[in-house]
Amino acid sequence: MIFMCKPCTSGSNMVSITLLKFFILLALLQSLMVHGQPYQPNWQSIDSRPLPGWYDDAKFGIFMHWGVYSVPSYGSEWFWQYWASNVPSYVNFMKQNYRPDFTYADFAEQFQAELFNASRFAEIVEASGARYYVLTTKHHEGYTLWPSRYSWNWNAMDVGPKRDLVGEMATAIRKLTTKVHFGLYHSLFAWYHPLYLQDEANDFTTRLYPEQISTPMLHELVENYHPDIVWSDGFEKTTGPEYWNSTGFLAWLYNSSPVKDVVVVNDRWGEGTVCHHGGYYTCHDRYNPGTLQNHKWENAMTVDRGSWGYRRNVQLANYLSAEQLIASLAKTVSCGGNMLLNVGPTHDGRIIPIFEERLRQIGSWLKVNGEAIYGSCPWRAQNDTKSLDIWYTSQKNGTTVEAVYAIILAWPANNHIFLGAPMSTKMTTVAMVGVEPPLNWEAGPKGVGVNVTMPTLNPVQMPCQWAWVLKLLNIK
Ligand SMILES: *[C@@H]1O[C@H](CO)[C@@H](O)[C@H](O)[C@H]1NC(C)=O
Ligand SMILES: *[C@@H]1O[C@H](CO)[C@@H](O)[C@H](O)[C@H]1NC(C)=O
Ligand SMILES: *[C@@H]1O[C@H](CO)[C@@H](O)[C@H](O)[C@H]1NC(C)=O
Ligand SMILES: *[C@@H]1O[C@H](CO)[C@@H](O)[C@H](O)[C@H]1NC(C)=O
Ligand SMILES: *[C@@H]1O[C@H](CO)[C@@H](O)[C@H](O)[C@H]1NC(C)=O
Repeated sequence: MIFMCKPCTSGSNMVSITLLKFFILLALLQSLMVHGQPYQPNWQSIDSRPLPGWYDDAKFGIFMHWGVYSVPSYGSEWFWQYWASNVPSYVNFMKQNYRPDFTYADFAEQFQAELFNASRFAEIVEASGARYYVLTTKHHEGYTLWPSRYSWNWNAMDVGPKRDLVGEMATAIRKLTTKVHFGLYHSLFAWYHPLYLQDEANDFTTRLYPEQISTPMLHELVENYHPDIVWSDGFEKTTGPEYWNSTGFLAWLYNSSPVKDVVVVNDRWGEGTVCHHGGYYTCHDRYNPGTLQNHKWENAMTVDRGSWGYRRNVQLANYLSAEQLIASLAKTVSCGGNMLLNVGPTHDGRIIPIFEERLRQIGSWLKVNGEAIYGSCPWRAQNDTKSLDIWYTSQKNGTTVEAVYAIILAWPANNHIFLGAPMSTKMTTVAMVGVEPPLNWEAGPKGVGVNVTMPTLNPVQMPCQWAWVLKLLNIK
C-alpha cells in the first residue's frame, strides 16, 4: 500500500508510485468496464483507494466517547460488560448505590444531557487546534446518539435526552470558522443485542444482526450526517469481515455514497482487518510505534489514561499533562501518524474544566507551532540520534524539503542543544518558531550535527510552554 503523503513523496518513491498509479488506474479501468463501479467488494480493491489528502494534512483530531455509560461514569465505558461479568468493584458499586432490580437500561433515563450545548463543544474542539472531530454514535452497549430506525427505544431521541446528539454536533462543527472535519465512530457489534446473540449462538452462520441492524445503521449514519470519517470499531470479540459484509459496505461508501470522494475510514472492520485492511491503521488503542510507518496510521488515545468514557473515580495522576500530550503529538506526527485525542463528556452534557484546559493548552501550543505539525511530512530522521526528547518533522514542496523542524521536549540545562541528525551547510539557518532573531549555532565534530545556542528568554518572552520548535533551513 502506498504511503499517501502526497506532497511528501521522496524522489526514489516517485518512480514506483507513478508505476503503481499506472497499474491501479489500469485495474480501475478494468473493473469499471466489467462492473461499472471502480471499487469491488474485496480487500484488494478496497485497499487500493488512495486516502483523501485532507486526513494526512490534519494531523490532530478530538474524539468523544459519550453514551449511557456516562451516567454511572464509573470504571470505564465497558461498565455494562464488567458488571454483567461480575467484576467485583462493579457489582459492589451497583449493590451499594442502586436498588436490587436496577438494570443497565434504567441508566438511559438519567442520560439527560440537560447542560449540553453543541456550539460550546465545537468551540472547545476548535480551540484545541484539532482539524477533525469524531463522536461515538453507538458504542458496544448498542445505544445510539441519533434517532436510529434500527434501535427502537434505545436511542437518544426515544429515551434520555430526547435529542439528536449526532445531528446537533454535526451542525455545530460545520458552523466553525476553522474547517474541522466531522467524523462518526460506530461499533459494529453490540454486546447484548438479541439478534447478535442469536448469530453468535449459531457460530455466525446466520447474519441476522448485520442484515437487520448494523449495515442499515451504517447506511443511515452516512446518508443522514455525511461524515468525513467512518471510524469503525468492535473487533474485540467478533467474527471476520465476511459476517459484517465490510467490503460490501466500503465498496458502496467509496463508489456511490454522498461522501465517496472525501470519506476516510480506519481498519477495524472485523477480526483480522486491524492493521491490515481498510483506510488508515489504528492497530491497537494508544498505538504509537515510535518509528516511521509505511502506511498512514492514527494514534487513538485518551487524556484519562484509564478510560474513554468519563469516569468519576479517577485520580488527578491518571490525566495526562500538557507536556505528555504534546510529546505524544510530536512523536506521532514525526513517525507519519495522526493523533486522535479522546475526552469523555459527562451524562449532563459537559466537558469537565480539566479536559477543556488540556485541549486549550494543546491549542495554544499549536497556534505558535502549527507549521511543524499541520501539512507536515516525516523527515529522514524521526527521533534524534542523541536524544528521544527531539522529534523531527518537515515541510516539503513536491520532493524538495523546504524546512526541517526539531521539536524539543525538554529545555537543555546548559542552554545548548545538540541536534545529532542534521548536517549543516554554508547556508544553514536556525530559528526558534515564535522568536524573532535567528539563533547562533555551530557545526558538530566533522560537520555532523548542529549545536544550537538556545535563546535567553524570560517567561514572558517564551513563545510557548511544554515543548519548543527549532526551524532549520538549508540543512541536509
Ligand atoms: C451555546 O454556546 C454558545 C457558544 O458558547 C453560546 O453563544 C450560546 O448562547 C449557547 N446557547 C445556549 C442556549 O446557552
Ligand atoms: C454485501 O454488500 C453489498 C453492497 O451493499 C451487497 O450488494 C451484497 O449483497 C452484500 N452481501 C451480503 C452477503 O449481504
Ligand atoms: C533514534 O532512532 C534511531 C533510528 O532512526 C535509533 O537507532 C536510535 O537508537 C534512536 N535513538 C535513541 C536515543 O533512542
Ligand atoms: C513549489 O515549487 C514550485 C516549483 O518550484 C513553485 O512554483 C511553487 O511556487 C512552490 N510552492 C510553494 C507553496 O512554495
Ligand atoms: C555545544 O556548544 C557549547 C558552547 O560552545 C559547548 O559547551 C558544548 O559542549 C557543545 N556541545 C556539543 C555536544 O558539542
